[in-house]
Amino acid sequence: MKKNIKFFLKKKNRSKIICLTAYSKSIARILDKHCDIILVGDSLANVLYGMKNTHNITLNTMIRHATSVKAGVNNSIVVVDMPKGSYNNIIDAKKNSKKIIVKSKCDAVKIENNKKNYNIIKELVRSNIPVMGHIGFTPQFHKKFKIKGSSIAEEEALVKEAVEIEKAGAFAIVLECVASKAVKKIMNSVKIPTIGIGSSNLCDGQILVTDDMLGLSGFHPKFVKKYINLSNIIKNAVIKYKKDVIKKKFPTKKNSY
Ligand code: KIV
Repeated sequence: MKKNIKFFLKKKNRSKIICLTAYSKSIARILDKHCDIILVGDSLANVLYGMKNTHNITLNTMIRHATSVKAGVNNSIVVVDMPKGSYNNIIDAKKNSKKIIVKSKCDAVKIENNKKNYNIIKELVRSNIPVMGHIGFTPQFHKKFKIKGSSIAEEEALVKEAVEIEKAGAFAIVLECVASKAVKKIMNSVKIPTIGIGSSNLCDGQILVTDDMLGLSGFHPKFVKKYINLSNIIKNAVIKYKKDVIKKKFPTKKNSY
């Protein structure tokens, strides 16, 4: 059954919302049966393109990957990150979010908040573009990694941001690397679901970068659990293939025309 966004609003405080990232059809089709939300994250800048941060990934690159992901999805909600610079003002945000949704046929966009994007969220929602917020550590606006919400002042600022994002009409909020005490306060202050990454198990759902949890990206901070080491599995397959080619064990007659 194709999930819709209203389903998530009702889901608050029930079973956890399962989210992962995908950048291509082949991964998306595996996730589709198991994830409520698939995010085409701008983390693809680092993970796929080897960039040092997410700051220079373009709108067209996001659209191309979103189109590929959507081609592998029948059930999950597909959310696409709006890249840095594509929502500097309301006019750009509307034009670029519409372009993402129309071209990729995905369901929603995600916007990093940076304590100020409430009017942009409000306008997109008013134009029927569902929006997911993102607070805490927001890589588009921070160069250096830092846990957020460790002091009372930061806790209060995060709660304020979450409340304003909810008021603006977002259907969910990603909390990235937010201290547990602050997560608790945010959870007590908003009704929309919170999706955590590095933000404790209190959140309504969890998200990870798929390449990190599969051991493909080589990035494994404390908040990532590596569920498998796919790098090793791929390496062993490549070594076997190489040996077979050298020893003329591949291709055999079976693989030839
Ligand atoms: O870009 C991304 O993959 C993200 C997740 C880490 C939430 O924003």
